[in-house]
Amino acid sequence: MENVTFLNHPLLQHKISMLRDENTGTNEFRKLVEEIAMLIGYEALRDLPTEDVEIKTPIETCLTPMITGKKLAIVPILRAGLGMVNGILALVPSAKVGHIGLYRDPDTHDPHEYYCKLPAPIEQRTIVVVDPMLATGGSACDAVNMIKEHGGKTIKFMSIIAAPEGLNRLHDEHPDVQIYVGHLDRCLNEHAYICPGLGDAGDRIFGTK
Ligand code: PRP
Ligand code: URA
Repeated sequence: MENVTFLNHPLLQHKISMLRDENTGTNEFRKLVEEIAMLIGYEALRDLPTEDVEIKTPIETCLTPMITGKKLAIVPILRAGLGMVNGILALVPSAKVGHIGLYRDPDTHDPHEYYCKLPAPIEQRTIVVVDPMLATGGSACDAVNMIKEHGGKTIKFMSIIAAPEGLNRLHDEHPDVQIYVGHLDRCLNEHAYICPGLGDAGDRIFGTK
């Protein structure tokens, strides 16, 4: 599938398996989400533009590449996306952070917007939308629509676990968005939860139920 990258590194897959385990508690779960976000982010950001700058080493002066352009925007979809932000900030500490608030209606599974704040000038930034779960794809598609309405152009989407339904929908509705997925799971169940998945990501990160 064009514009979709699956991360199949054994270290990443090992961490995702630990995340799925129902015996993994809140503290460990949070740490794993952060580490996995950093590993996916490392791959997702491999095309960041660089320019050669002059640096003086203790030996001599050289031209050497550094990240250039407007600062990256990391945009978590609340709540669960928040768990991924620090992992990416570990890679790009100067990134700006926007927020999009969406929750799924438990009956219709449709997303409802309750917050949107993006760093300006959003049209000049590479925007990385993060959400651990891509289930029906409703939240991801709405978030990307909102960013585009605000002028965002270069958009990447990172999820830890995706269902085929959500991945296909995001890819079809936004073929211009680069998608990075930690693991593609089997399907959705009747409550639109990912199988086998990891349960409710927000509840597991924040210890709610
Ligand atoms: C979860 C998850 C995604 C969304 C995915 O959030 O974090 O945002 O569901 O489902 P979808 O692909 O079918 O839209 P939820 O709505 O449970 O909110 P929360 O993060 O506040 O718990
Ligand atoms: N949201 C979650 O947190 N988990 C799922 O499996 C689906 C949506």
